[in-house]
Order: sequence, then C-alpha cells, then structure tokens
Amino acid sequence: MVSTTLLREAALVDGQWRAAADGRVFDVTDPATGAKIAAVPLMAEADTEAAIAAAAKALRPWRRRTAKDRAAVLTRWAQLMTEHADELAELLTTEQGKPLAEARGEIGYAISFLTFYAAEGQRVRGEIIPATAEDSRIMVLRQPIGVVGCITPWNFPAAMITRKAAPALAAGCTVVLKPAEQTPLSALAIAALGQEAGLPAGVLNVITGDAPAIGRALCASPTVRLISFTGSTEVGKLLSAQCADTVKRLTLELGGNAPFLVFEDADLDAAVTAAVLSKYRHSGQTCVCTNRFLVQASIVEEFTHRFTAAVGKLAVGNGKQPGVDVGPLIDADGLAKVAAHVDDAVHKGARLLVGGAPHALGGTFFQPTVLADVTPQMRVMREETFGPVAAITSFDTEEAAVELANDTRSGLAGYFFTNDLGRAWRVAEALEVGMVGLNTGFLSVEVAPFGGVKESGLGREGSHHGIEDFVETKFVHIGGISSPGAAAGS
Ligand code: SIN
Repeated sequence: MVSTTLLREAALVDGQWRAAADGRVFDVTDPATGAKIAAVPLMAEADTEAAIAAAAKALRPWRRRTAKDRAAVLTRWAQLMTEHADELAELLTTEQGKPLAEARGEIGYAISFLTFYAAEGQRVRGEIIPATAEDSRIMVLRQPIGVVGCITPWNFPAAMITRKAAPALAAGCTVVLKPAEQTPLSALAIAALGQEAGLPAGVLNVITGDAPAIGRALCASPTVRLISFTGSTEVGKLLSAQCADTVKRLTLELGGNAPFLVFEDADLDAAVTAAVLSKYRHSGQTCVCTNRFLVQASIVEEFTHRFTAAVGKLAVGNGKQPGVDVGPLIDADGLAKVAAHVDDAVHKGARLLVGGAPHALGGTFFQPTVLADVTPQMRVMREETFGPVAAITSFDTEEAAVELANDTRSGLAGYFFTNDLGRAWRVAEALEVGMVGLNTGFLSVEVAPFGGVKESGLGREGSHHGIEDFVETKFVHIGGISSPGAAAGS
C-alpha cells in the first residue's frame, strides 16, 4: 500500500477530477506482490473527445501568455515535485516495481525536464530573412502546434510524462495525455502537482483507460495536431497509419535492439561495470538497455567470466527492500517473453551461464541471466527481450562487429568500449543508431537529444531539439514597404 496524499483514482479533464462517462474502472496492481493498489477510470472514445475539447478551449489563452509566464508555472511544478520526491518515488515503485533508488533517480530525471523546458521555452525564436524585393520583408514566426496527444509507457511512469508535457506546455501547446494502463498513478500524481502549480483548467488533461480506443480517438481528431508516443514499434506503426487521415505530426520513441561492442583495446573493468548497468538497469526493461553483447574473440572468455561473476551478485527482490538491484518484470506477458527468448536460445545451442528461469520469489520475478555463444538466428539477437537476459557473442574484426551491430531493423542506442581514438570515431559514425554510448553504458540526460533511427522512431525528445516538434513555422511576407523618398515621389 502507498501512503500519499497524491494518490488519485480519477482522471483530470478540464481541471476536474472525473470518472469515466460510463463509470467503468480498472485495477492497478503492484507487480512485486500482485496486490491491488487502486482503481482508476476505464475511459474510452467519449472521454477522449471531452478531454480534446477541454484542451482546445484552453489553447488560446495558454498560447497567448508569455513564455516567461508559462516558465514560472513549470518552475513551480518542478519545486512541488522536488518537495514530494519521496512520495512520488514510493508510488512509482509500488505501481511499477523498479528498485526505490532507481525510482528516486527517475523522479529527479522527470523534474529535470520541467526545469530545462521552463528555460528552453523562452528561447523559441523567429527570424527575419533578407527579402528579395526592396519593398518587402520576410518574417518567420514560431508558434505552438496546438493540441497534442501524448501516450506514455509503463517503464518510465514519471519521466516520460514530463519529457513530453514540459516542452509541449512551454511552447504554448495544450495536452491530452494517456499514461500506460499498468502505471497511471504516477501520471495522475504529477498532474495533481501541476494543477497546484497553476496549470489552468484544460491545459493538461490526463485520461486513463482503454489504450486502443483512446489512441484511435486521439489519432482521428482533426483538433489534435501532434501525437507523441513512446512504446513498442508495433503500436508506433499502428498509430502512424491512424494519423495519416488527418496528416498529423508524429514523434515516436519505439523499441530498440541495442548492441554493446567490446574491443580488445578496451578497459575491461570499466566495460564490465557499464555492461551490468546497461543490461540490468530496471530489470532490462528500458528501450536503451543492451540486448546484444558483441565482444572481440581475443577477450570474449575473460569478459564473459568477469561479467557473469558480477551478474551472479545481483540481488533480486521487491524494489522497496534495501539493497535490491533487480525488481519484478511488469506483468505475466513480460515474463513469458523473457522465458521464451531464453528457451529459444538454449534450444538453438546457446550456453546458459547463470539464471535462465523464473526466480524462486515467484510472480513476475526472473533470474538475472547470461547466455554465451548466441547466434543471429536466435530471438535474443533479433528481438528486444525487455528483460534481465544478456546474450553474448564474439567477432574478429571491427568491420564484422559493425556489420553485426547494424544487422537489425532497429536503431535506437548502441554502446562500445575502446581506447583507440581512430576506432572511436569510426565506430561512432558507423553505428546505425540515434544514440551512442562510447566508454559508457548510460545515455539518458535531459540536455541531450533522445531518439532513434530506422524502425526505432521519429523525432527527438530532450534538449533544445525536443521542443521543435511542438512548434510550427509560419512565414509572413510583407509587401508595400516603399521608402519615404519613393512615397514622396523623389
Ligand atoms: C525508455 O526506455 O523509453 C526511456 C529510457 C530513458 O530515457 O533512459
């Protein structure tokens, strides 16, 4: 159970905490215990349309306010989240399962987007372009795109709310946000603090419920001008198709299949530490978690030995217990996929070095697992496992390593360890990904552009790039500016 005044069992529409139009609800459970935490509205099309109407009504007054004024609200919101950080972290771990230390880190990460975009919203500038005729001028305005729909995932129930809402609101847009069904409570708690910080009614609406119905209604609405989605590639493709009819802008943060390359000239201790972080952070359930370890043949045995020893020490348990490194998986489907990937690899000849099965704790806990001698034919190499399973294979040359790394339709994150400067440049340039970790296993910071290439997505979040999608460019051509002399006939 959670003890917080921020627990909301209602959705936020037009500044009111509301039930679904038809009164339906669904349960939110703790993945570590299976216990019910709360019940929230099971909303669908009609509720989504009401939220879109509220956001449309709120748009004009919000976009008219100065960027500085909007920044003051975001700054106050960040302060309130900081004051409530412990409660928010506990709520996050309860509904999501990640260890409390990681949840605290995520709340800090969520706050950083509010602070960053409070400032960045004040830097959205237009331009004056030299005109092509003496009596004309060319001006470029940068204006908010309008009402935006945000659909956020369960793996970062707090940070993905502010990574989308903060730039949208700072730019002068209004928002209809649907959090994941598994983790709506963090979004509702953060929205409650936004309301307290001074967000006017309808500027941020948070609706919970039926994902396909809400997604369809957001995509079909001509009022919604942008959909910002983080989640699976499969759902991203569906939303893209649904947005075609209204020619909406899309920002998509989709699945990855991150390679982690270790060259023989690397600092092996640093590589092992980073490998554990990049693989087992949040039980392997981030889209930038390493999926494939590619290690130069001359050091693969040594790397595998050290890595497996480190993985064997990871503590599995309820994220609220001190010292826990690896929490439960989000649900039974997540567990089934992880188990299926391990079975497929072992069946096709991979060597199981540690773990390999559901954990004795039961529920959705899975043992941290290491598989060696994996091949490109195995599911662990081709699909995102989204769980605590490391798959290791070897390569002989730099060219072979890059070819193997790029042999995927995904292109989100890629990591590599080397101490050779020339190789560092070559490989960073050659990896077909949106983000590269060179001698680090960690990427996510609010000041850098987060996003992928290929089937991993469109657009970038975070940094000054992350506000671009929420802004439209309008050009104004001004004629009839003749000189005073010309007007006097001289
Ligand atoms: C994600 O997995 O969707 C986000 C990961 C991050 O920001 O670190």
